[in-house]
Amino acid sequence: MVKHTATSVVTIERFIIEQERLYPHATGDLSAILYDLGVAAKMIANKVRSAGLADILGSAEKENIQGEVQQKLDIIANEIIVKAMDHGGRLCGMGSEEEEDMIHIPDRFKRGKYVLLFDPLDGSSNIDVNVPVGTIFSVLHKVSEGERAVLADMLQPGYEQVAAGYVIYGASTMLVYTTGQGAHGFTLDPSIGEFLLSHPHIRIPETGRYLSVNDSYSQMWNEPTRALMRYYRGLDGTREAMSVRYVGSLVADFHRNLLGGGLFAYPANTSNPQGKLRLQYEANPLAFIVEQAGGAATDGHRRIVDLKPTSLHQRTPLFIGSLHDVEAAKRILGDSVAEEVGA
Ligand code: AHG
Ligand code: MN
Ligand code: MN
Repeated sequence: MVKHTATSVVTIERFIIEQERLYPHATGDLSAILYDLGVAAKMIANKVRSAGLADILGSAEKENIQGEVQQKLDIIANEIIVKAMDHGGRLCGMGSEEEEDMIHIPDRFKRGKYVLLFDPLDGSSNIDVNVPVGTIFSVLHKVSEGERAVLADMLQPGYEQVAAGYVIYGASTMLVYTTGQGAHGFTLDPSIGEFLLSHPHIRIPETGRYLSVNDSYSQMWNEPTRALMRYYRGLDGTREAMSVRYVGSLVADFHRNLLGGGLFAYPANTSNPQGKLRLQYEANPLAFIVEQAGGAATDGHRRIVDLKPTSLHQRTPLFIGSLHDVEAAKRILGDSVAEEVGA
């Protein structure tokens, strides 16, 4: 006798709609933003997949077309997101890691009640060597009066986020997002062009296996940071050594640690006294996701999502991942970071 197993296929669209039903007053605007971001992600995935090929094909063309410089993929990804999101009537403004100033919605389009902050292509220095890259996004409610977004809308602390997510363009393309009801992952099925629910309710192990940190800065770290890294490596004898894995693409390192357990660290160092990663485009959205998965994120002293941004491209030290490993960072670094930030 043939035994049939029923597998329910849940597209991201269906999942978003079902999540929306949990909020009786939802207007559907947030769902539309998430859906449009999924479309933008598919377009970027397509560009990333053919990036090497485009170089080969583009080389002859470059000699013929005068003055046309081939665009870097992070500029292309930025354009794709802006063009996918500016006319939906749900956003009143955007902020991108690739653009110095706020991005306004053109007057010909309707404006909505949300703002979008994003890193269009994270880890883009890895693109030439075929290593996973990603997109990170954060959605906030508009808080100012009037139709247009102002800086205050972009400078809200991370705990005000209404949605956040990332896309990883790896061996397969995955989108992980949260609206505060858990963190859920979807894998792009390229044969049908749909993101399908593959990782519902992601939970990060409480103690991690992997440590992701760029060790080449160790000479530029302060002594408490060095002590913390000795702890993670088991060198002070108080814990089993973690395994070091560092891709150099935050999204790829974060994603592995989210699923397998681990900690990503980008501490302050003497040449980056505020750290390197951006609070609104990178740290806050990933902090929202990791907390929804049972993990944590800190600057070494304070919870990332509690930090009050004062400028659009603000940087922060970042320790993010498994709960117990992040707690160790707070315990060992707490006082030193507090001194540095004058808290
Ligand atoms: P981006 O490509 O968006 O500028 O981000 C790069 C970031 C992040 O993806 C990665 O974790 C980090 O830079 C790596 O920095 P180091 O080379 O200093 O380790
Ligand atoms: Mn980045
Ligand atoms: Mn980037």
